[in-house]
Amino acid sequence: MRARENAHAPYSGFRVGAAIRSASGSIHAGCNVENAAYPEGTCAEAGAIAAMVAAGEREIAEILVIADAPAPVTPCGGCRQKIAEFAPPGTPVIMRNMAGEERVAPIEELLPHAFAAAHMGGAR
Ligand code: THU
Repeated sequence: MRARENAHAPYSGFRVGAAIRSASGSIHAGCNVENAAYPEGTCAEAGAIAAMVAAGEREIAEILVIADAPAPVTPCGGCRQKIAEFAPPGTPVIMRNMAGEERVAPIEELLPHAFAAAHMGGAR
């Protein structure tokens, strides 16, 4: 929620916060950072993942996303793929709105049949 307060969302007015608890227990937060060149904006989940990786962590134990929305906000498709890169099957994705409504789903429910490194076989 604190990271959400810092969101840069002058174009949508929709501020989003995300927080990851890594496998080692550390917490990494992010917020959406929009850009005048709209497609260059980044989601809160992407910011939290970048902070986690920059801190040397590689595994998401759980991730929460929160926004002021009529229903708990679900990560966009791109963010589901980004989360799946670091979240093993079973990892809870916690979706919340500011009213305290919550929905929890494992990452594989949000992104079934995710494309992953294994699909590339030995290719480099
Ligand atoms: N957004 C996120 O940061 N995370 C989500 O899960 C959904 C959407 C952002 C992107 C954009 O800055 C704003 O919300 C409106 O789409």
